[in-house]
Amino acid sequence: MKKIGIIGYGNTGRFLCKKILTDPKYMSEFDLAFVWNRSVGKLEADKDLVPEKYWLRGADVGKAFQNYIKNAGDVDMIVEVAHPNVVRDCATLFLEYADVYVASITALAEAETEDILRKKAITNGLYLPSGAAWGIHDVQKMNALGTLSGLSVTMRFNADALRLEDPLKSKLETYIKSNEKEELVLYKGNVRDLAALAPNNVNTMTCLALAGSNIGLDGTQGCLIAQKEHDAHIIDIEVEGPNEFKVNTRRYNPAKKGAVTGDETYNSFLISLLKAGGQGGGFHFC
Ligand SMILES: NC(=O)c1ccc[n+]([C@@H]2O[C@H](COP(=O)([O-])OP(=O)(O)OC[C@H]3O[C@@H](n4cnc5c(N)ncnc54)[C@H](O)[C@@H]3O)[C@@H](O)[C@H]2O)c1
Repeated sequence: MKKIGIIGYGNTGRFLCKKILTDPKYMSEFDLAFVWNRSVGKLEADKDLVPEKYWLRGADVGKAFQNYIKNAGDVDMIVEVAHPNVVRDCATLFLEYADVYVASITALAEAETEDILRKKAITNGLYLPSGAAWGIHDVQKMNALGTLSGLSVTMRFNADALRLEDPLKSKLETYIKSNEKEELVLYKGNVRDLAALAPNNVNTMTCLALAGSNIGLDGTQGCLIAQKEHDAHIIDIEVEGPNEFKVNTRRYNPAKKGAVTGDETYNSFLISLLKAGGQGGGFHFC
């Protein structure tokens, strides 16, 4: 059994806890070591699902984790499902003791964070769930062969599902208030700059750009579009190789109104978690 600690009890954290604690298929695969959330209130409100013995207390997640280790706690894998800042601030500490599974992949769009984590992931590995990044292993293979020549990703969300930073935030607010029915292209350019402006929405693009590291975050083209017609998340990926080789895929994922994550992505996370771990150092796409 894989002993895991979950950092973050939002929609994804709760989904994973529910599966691990109540679904026989996953109860036999995972042993829940602890769950940490920034505010313990969320866990208190849900103690029928996650009993108090699992709560890792403390406002500072780094200190709370160190206390856990000090008290002879052990864990095989830390599962981050909170915020990119947790990856930036704590993933190096977690890697000293365990493999780390990162949902907030946009954290790695900061070159310094990526660099530090690549150096730190020597014995334990960093696992990146492919989530909505369809065909990521093919991108990785082409990258290894040196044949990847172009990578572009277009993501369409309902305007209510976008969580943006300025200047995109004000652009989106104007669009939401308007009577405009047509979709709005919010950003077109490299994925590195976009990740800083839409940290919650472009994990998929960042993951693909990391798998295609020869092109990377500066070379991968990202396009973010808001629309009002439906709630689904639509992702178009275009991969280019030698002699006009080209693959285009479209993933259409129905989502609840305003949800940042489409339903199928939660299940995808769970299967990735089953595959993650024990592969040694480095970045692993799962
Ligand atoms: N890789 C992917 O394809 C993918 C898909 C969905 C979500 N995600 C990412 O996973 C993370 C969790 O997603 P979610 O849908 O469960 O989000 P959510 O908003 O439902 O939950 C996030 C949880 O983290 C906590 N949190 C927020 N900011 C924090 C901070 N600065 N420090 C510590 N805790 C903080 C919140 O209190 C909340 O409990 C997000 O970063 C999201 O962008 C990635």
